Amino acid sequence: MNILFLNGPNLNLLGQREPGIYGNATLRDIEVELRRRADQSQIEMDFRQTNAEGELVSWIQQAKGVFDAIVLNAAAYTHTSIALRDAISAVAIPTIEVHLSNIHAREEFRHKSLIAPVCVGQISGFGPKSYYLALEALIGV
Ligand code: DQA
Repeated sequence: MNILFLNGPNLNLLGQREPGIYGNATLRDIEVELRRRADQSQIEMDFRQTNAEGELVSWIQQAKGVFDAIVLNAAAYTHTSIALRDAISAVAIPTIEVHLSNIHAREEFRHKSLIAPVCVGQISGFGPKSYYLALEALIGV
């Protein structure tokens, strides 16, 4: 199994960005721990971040035939991007939506996810563990 982890805007700032909400772990810390866990289960993975919506769309399109699943933290684009939703639908690769914070316990504009209806499921509110739980959900699938 080959899993593509995608991270959207401002997640490159994890560790310094609003630590009261997002914690102290950096994106690199999360990637290192994911790789350790993926190795244990003989899972291949790629881990990427971009601030650009179009780049996320392109990466999702290019995942077809290469990756078996996508774990996506679309960050703010979660709440705004029809383009991301259409890309997920177009490639039909099982996609898990993840968030570090519990988007439903925050501002109202974060309660709506435009991508949730085209994802297998949503994991939100467990900090870096949201990513590890997504990996766990895919192991053995
Ligand atoms: C986030 C939640 C989003 O609402 C926010 O825009 C982010 C991060 C999270 O992981 O908790 O940038 O996706």
